[in-house]
Amino acid sequence: MPSEFGTNEALKFLTPEIKMDWQLNSPVVIFLICAGGIFILSLPLQCARRKRLIAAETQRLAAEAERQAAEERQFNEWLNEPPPNSEEWYRRRLTYATELANEQNRLAEEQRQMGAGAFAGARAADILMGKLKNKANVILVDERDSCFIAVQAMLPLFDPKKVDQIWVPYSSKSLLFWNISSGNVIQGSAVKLNENSLELHDGRTISFDFAVIATGTKSALKPPVWNKTEGQNDAENLTTALLAAKNISVIGGGQVGVELAAKLCSNLPETHVHLIHRGPQLLSKMAGMNDASRQKVYQVLQKFTNLTISLEDSIAKPELPLSSISTEKQILLTKSGREINSDVTFMTTGNLPNSKFVAAGLGESLLDDGGYIRTAFDGSLIGYSHIFAAGDVSNLDPVKLARQAMNQAQLVASNIEVLVKSDWFGEVAKIDPKPKLKIYTPVSRDNGAVKLGKQGFVVKLWGFVLHI
Ligand SMILES: *[C@@H]1O[C@H](CO)[C@@H](O)[C@H](O)[C@H]1NC(C)=O
Ligand SMILES: *[C@@H]1O[C@H](CO)[C@@H](O)[C@H](O)[C@H]1NC(C)=O
Ligand SMILES: *[C@@H]1O[C@H](CO)[C@@H](O)[C@H](O)[C@H]1NC(C)=O
Ligand SMILES: *[C@@H]1O[C@H](CO)[C@@H](O)[C@H](O)[C@H]1NC(C)=O
Ligand SMILES: *[C@@H]1O[C@H](CO)[C@@H](O)[C@H](O)[C@H]1NC(C)=O
Repeated sequence: MPSEFGTNEALKFLTPEIKMDWQLNSPVVIFLICAGGIFILSLPLQCARRKRLIAAETQRLAAEAERQAAEERQFNEWLNEPPPNSEEWYRRRLTYATELANEQNRLAEEQRQMGAGAFAGARAADILMGKLKNKANVILVDERDSCFIAVQAMLPLFDPKKVDQIWVPYSSKSLLFWNISSGNVIQGSAVKLNENSLELHDGRTISFDFAVIATGTKSALKPPVWNKTEGQNDAENLTTALLAAKNISVIGGGQVGVELAAKLCSNLPETHVHLIHRGPQLLSKMAGMNDASRQKVYQVLQKFTNLTISLEDSIAKPELPLSSISTEKQILLTKSGREINSDVTFMTTGNLPNSKFVAAGLGESLLDDGGYIRTAFDGSLIGYSHIFAAGDVSNLDPVKLARQAMNQAQLVASNIEVLVKSDWFGEVAKIDPKPKLKIYTPVSRDNGAVKLGKQGFVVKLWGFVLHI
């Protein structure tokens, strides 16, 4: 789940005073600027339209800020609420399983996992724990002892203290998971999901009436360790390796690879960074980009003198595990015949959903070709109305970003609330008709932003491409 914060951060700067870098040669831009095709008159039109678009965006951001402020006010009110009456809990047993690890290779040093998993899971659990506190026993299962905030995973690369911002203990009363109490969190890694129970790595089994799967996808930037202390060590080890490296390779020119390469170049001006991408263009799959913005990103990256970008190339040897970081010195041989003496190697290719434990218990047919969980529009698994999936691991939305994950968390939480409150589960579900549930509406993703280290942002805003 690449960070969407980049976009928001970037859009904040979009006042008309900002110097803009227009892509007047791009047919896309011209088409949008003056739809009538009178290119000579396009400049004032362009300015008027640009101002309107920017004003609209500024307004949207202001509304967003207002909404966040309202949430914060509400949060402060909750601070003063009395604690729930625990005797009234457990009226019915509802186990809510989320953020489950991939069991395979879980001990392998080089496997790193990341995704919106923790994000969507923690958020859905939090809403449900708040809403159903007297009606259900809601449990969060996480292989880690903290919520891993994947969207910020690059923060500690050169500042290991920032591990505090990405390993957030469930007991910390974060704004993301205010209602979660540590008594309702189980640390464990899922190996098998059955129709009404979840098996963990250490043999424990948890039975449930409802389950939510929010295990996300693997990522190079999510370390293969389970507690914050180890996360801290891992971050320190990686920083040390980066500072000592002469050549660093980043395989995969998607958003994570591109932003990572730019960050490495910004922090290590004397180090060679090799960005290797299989396709003819960087960011080819990133939502919210177009050809002009991809070219702009490429141009801006050229400003990093020690960065080598190889397009239409890949690693022939050795075989590198997908979504991983290696701090072992190794010689990489590319398909085009280049040899790179790589001290640190980031593999940012491969979207690997953490869904094997679902197939292990419920069958392969629940996963699509990419390994994502087949999810109905109400967020439930096809064929299982009491099991839901949210976030990157679900196939509900091809766009894998924090906002989409949050929306799915909300959808799933509100649908489970409806089912629990109308007693529609277990035997009742076999007889009574299903209550009406909410349906997911994808959030459109027309615009995008890429953070390029100290070179700032490349933003695609409708037909415009800006470098700010
Ligand atoms: C806590 O629970 C309430 C009720 O479900 C929910 O609206 C809220 O978003 C939850 N989380 C926070 C951080 O308040
Ligand atoms: C963290 O994990 C390591 C390795 O599994 C273990 O040795 C250590 O005791 C754990 N520490 C805590 C605080 O859980
Ligand atoms: C960090 O490096 C030390 C020393 O090489 C090693 O013992 C330790 O296992 C590493 N920790 C992690 C989490 O990789
Ligand atoms: C990196 O680029 C700078 C110029 O920007 C140059 O002085 C330096 O020698 C380069 N480093 C290496 C390792 O090539
Ligand atoms: C690795 O770094 C060294 C020193 O900075 C440089 O001379 C060499 O060309 C680099 N190797 C490759 C394959 O880029």
